[in-house]
Amino acid sequence: MSVSPNRDPQASVEETSDAKRPRHVAFIMDGNGRWATSRGLPRTEGHRKGLQALRKVIRHAGEIGIETVTIYSFSSENWNRPETEVTFLMGLLRRFVQRDLSELHKSNVRIRIIGGRDDLEPGILALLQEAEDLTRSNTGLNLVVAFNYGARDEIVRGVKAIAAQVAGGELSLDDISEKTISNNLDTAGLRDPDLIVRTSGEMRLSNFLLWQAAYTEFYFCDLYWPDFDENAFDEAIAYFCRRERRYGGLDAKAL
Ligand code: IPE
Ligand code: IPE
Ligand code: MG
Repeated sequence: MSVSPNRDPQASVEETSDAKRPRHVAFIMDGNGRWATSRGLPRTEGHRKGLQALRKVIRHAGEIGIETVTIYSFSSENWNRPETEVTFLMGLLRRFVQRDLSELHKSNVRIRIIGGRDDLEPGILALLQEAEDLTRSNTGLNLVVAFNYGARDEIVRGVKAIAAQVAGGELSLDDISEKTISNNLDTAGLRDPDLIVRTSGEMRLSNFLLWQAAYTEFYFCDLYWPDFDENAFDEAIAYFCRRERRYGGLDAKAL
């Protein structure tokens, strides 16, 4: 199994104190297409396998006490893919909601969707709404699904909302703060991700959580998403636990 060059085989998740564990882990689930083509399969087969990996990750996150998992499931730029692939991905979302929603609800998972909703097909919109409505009062794992999500689009929508409040006299220019911006993004009320994991060896954000990732730790892993499993997840967390987060200050040791 190939992993990040910073891997420390000695580190285990069990050894680390709760205080250092990530509370919010976000995943850029990348490499489904390459997983499939490297096996001579159609790209869609990679997406199907990717859904199985996602189920493992959600289950494991609950088991190891992660509070929030955000998954990048479809970006605002993924509409640029061939129509057949987009149609397949929409079908997969539909199947995920139809097959997995009741199970997730039983497991006390609370689902929240982030991303633009304006131009979505009514059938898709209804599914997203159903997932949020059914699980709204659940108190277990928060599962944040980034669908039709692009951070720049999110920021534009947030800026427009703030501008409308200023124009309407509800908010003064001087009162605009970082909190105002955070509160007008799709992620309002969620803590920033402590850790972003991207699979498939790509080292970029691809328009994911640009505002929220200001002090997030990053873990890049060579595995294609369909091969990502509980062990790979544990390795990502062990990596996070070895980071010293300074937020522009100094190490406690240096003081
Ligand atoms: C990630 O895998 C899934 C989505 C973007 C929907 P990709 O489909 O991007 O797979 P690669 O990166 O082309 O291998
Ligand atoms: C990012 O992956 C989006 C998702 C994982 C849903 P992409 O495969 O779309 O990103 P690029 O095009 O390689 O940057
Ligand atoms: Mg990709």
